[in-house]
Amino acid sequence: MPTRTDDPAQSRLVRAARGEKVDRPPVWFMRQAGRSLPEYRALREGTTMLESCRRPDLVTEITLQPVRRHRVDAAIFFSDIVVPLQAVGVDLDIVAGVGPVVAEPFRTRADLDRLPALTAEHVPDITESVQMLVRELGPTPLIGFSGAPFTLASYLVEGGPSRNHEHTKALMHGDPELWHDLCTRLAQIAGAYLRIQVDAGASAVQLFDSWVGYLSRADYEAYVRPHSTQALEAVAGLVPRIHFGVGTGELLASMGEAGVECVGVDYRVNLLDALERTGGRYALQGNLDPALLFAPWPVIEQEVRRIVAEGRQAPGHVFNLGHGVLPSTDPEVLTRVVELVHSLGEDPA
Ligand code: CP3
Repeated sequence: MPTRTDDPAQSRLVRAARGEKVDRPPVWFMRQAGRSLPEYRALREGTTMLESCRRPDLVTEITLQPVRRHRVDAAIFFSDIVVPLQAVGVDLDIVAGVGPVVAEPFRTRADLDRLPALTAEHVPDITESVQMLVRELGPTPLIGFSGAPFTLASYLVEGGPSRNHEHTKALMHGDPELWHDLCTRLAQIAGAYLRIQVDAGASAVQLFDSWVGYLSRADYEAYVRPHSTQALEAVAGLVPRIHFGVGTGELLASMGEAGVECVGVDYRVNLLDALERTGGRYALQGNLDPALLFAPWPVIEQEVRRIVAEGRQAPGHVFNLGHGVLPSTDPEVLTRVVELVHSLGEDPA
């Protein structure tokens, strides 16, 4: 049996995300595993993104790389939000510099036939990867993740990344019944994908609803949130759940109510404002602007100190960026940010 301090379920990440006070905030970075690391680029050479995601040896090594290099307090599972869609049979690819591209966009009721329920049999490699990782990581927690129904629906309906989400919104308002049926399928897939990772040993999960900031609060609550709730319920009571989207200043409270312990805040919203908007009901994650990592160190240091100080007011605070690491980020700066957060112990006041 691991001792209490060796148990990832007792790690700072898990405790802070549950809303418990810890001596200093845990820190990890969205997109920490990936293109900013030369060792990642070397390993990925000659293998496509989606192939890499299905090879437990590569997934394990890529997930561990930033943990070794930066000494972050959590690993994020190396995968992609479209992996479970591909696993159930959707024809798609991840195009470098573009993102996920779907061969035949979802447009009619007949397209529901292309979205069967996800079971563990579709993704034995994911179970294997998570199990291998949990063994290698020891006390460091692994964060599992899934794309949320809305963001997945947007890729399926638009056929790829979209600026305005016009086909998605046309479906949502033009055929609400089909929209809800689509999102019910996606919520099953997302929930099952989270549950498979938790059953294999992940200590926390993050539901990414990257594009949800394009919605009004009314539309979010009517057309999207019930499906996010369904996905999140698949791991309720098992591990802390983090919910993140971009441009969600107007949605933070509402996203908390989807059923999570921790709300991810993008870099546009000050943490104290996020705390007020969410009524202090959730732990917060965030929110250094990833573009600021290109500024001189004294600017970064001041921002990190401010965010950590503000985070102390929240029920729990997980230090992160306000969106993913930009590919051209100097990895040394990330290591320095981790060292700084680690040095900021208990509030002296
Ligand atoms: O380090 C980590 O965060 C873990 C791995 C991870 C990836 N994608 C790896 C990846 C995670 C958590 C994701 C989630 C993801 N994928 C999201 C939600 C998070 C967010 O950024 O809002 C979204 C919207 C996607 C869809 C997607 N996949 C995009 C937009 C891209 C970038 C396309 C590009 O090249 O600009 C991808 C590809 C992708 N996913 C890469 C990585 C490391 C780059 C592919 C490569 O290295 O060849």
